[in-house]
Amino acid sequence: MTSKMTVLIVGSTGHMGSRIAWALAEKKDVKIRALVRNRQTEDVKKQQTIQRLEGLGAEIVEGDVFDIPSLERACTGVDTVLSAISGFQSRGDVIVTGQLNLLNAAKQAGVTRFIPADYSADYFQMQLGDNLVWDQRLTVGQAVKESGLDYTFIMNGGFTESFFAPFFQIFNFEAGTVEYWGDGDTKFDLTTTDDTAKYTAEAVVDPRTINTSFQVAGDVMTMKEAIAAYEEVKGKKLTVHCKGSLDDLKTWIENTKARVRVPWAVVPAQCQLGMALGKGKLHNIVNDRYPHIKPTSVREYLATTNAFDGGGVNKDD
Ligand SMILES: NC(=O)c1ccc[n+]([C@@H]2O[C@H](COP(=O)([O-])OP(=O)(O)OC[C@H]3O[C@@H](n4cnc5c(N)ncnc54)[C@H](OP(=O)(O)O)[C@@H]3O)[C@@H](O)[C@H]2O)c1
Repeated sequence: MTSKMTVLIVGSTGHMGSRIAWALAEKKDVKIRALVRNRQTEDVKKQQTIQRLEGLGAEIVEGDVFDIPSLERACTGVDTVLSAISGFQSRGDVIVTGQLNLLNAAKQAGVTRFIPADYSADYFQMQLGDNLVWDQRLTVGQAVKESGLDYTFIMNGGFTESFFAPFFQIFNFEAGTVEYWGDGDTKFDLTTTDDTAKYTAEAVVDPRTINTSFQVAGDVMTMKEAIAAYEEVKGKKLTVHCKGSLDDLKTWIENTKARVRVPWAVVPAQCQLGMALGKGKLHNIVNDRYPHIKPTSVREYLATTNAFDGGGVNKDD
């Protein structure tokens, strides 16, 4: 009889973390330990998530990525630490400082594998300074590689939900407009959060993913193809506006950085620049290994979605 693999999910009450937990709960050889910040939370949605986790047999442990002893306790007896955290807090930034605390605790506790909160494009193609979000992932990713622990980096391109949401500043469905920079002809990858969660559960139990960037995509398309998909599925024409060349976009980003001095203000533009340059494009997509997962194409997503509420987008706490 083989013993079960214990997976600690950090960020289990979040949009991605909870979806990964539902998918992992279907894997019979996995035992889930879920780290939550406050088991007695008054947030009804989070309460329901915790109850559902308990109902699925998950062990609930309280902890916080800025509380080192809580991380040491949570990591004890764990095989794989899977992070799905997000947020900026007064105590520091969760993605870098928080995950480095978690990585250190995992190492001290003898954890075998660490899966950081990536769920992104291939940030190893980026240079520090390209994009605040990717800078954070690069910093953590390098530390994970140097830690001596096994790792898996989950790469799904952008979340389909986020790409069409106001956060990205491309589509404005109320106004019936779409704006982008460049020629709109560069391919990029989009995957829904549910599909990313299902593939992540596969990555956890599939030894082929150890020490790799695990790349999956629900769809691969260009900006012009995404606009055409929307118009075709919804039967509505959008007013399309090209805002300028990619050099114009670079200038816009530098000017805005100097003027606004809030790093997050340029992140959507930095993401658009990365996508339009093909930086971060996934080149080793392994969907075919998991034929039982039928990922949602952009057309299928648009056909079943009316609300573009930014699901899965980073939020401050
Ligand atoms: N590729 C894309 O297009 C894309 C788009 C959006 C997000 N993402 C990425 O997806 C990942 C997950 O994002 P999400 O939208 O699921 O985030 P989310 O819904 O905001 O969830 C964040 C989770 O982190 C937990 N958390 C926050 N601070 C913590 C702390 N100090 N200690 C312990 N746990 C803490 C939260 O716990 P509480 O419930 O207690 O607050 C929550 O469970 C992130 O890496 C994000 O950058 C990718």
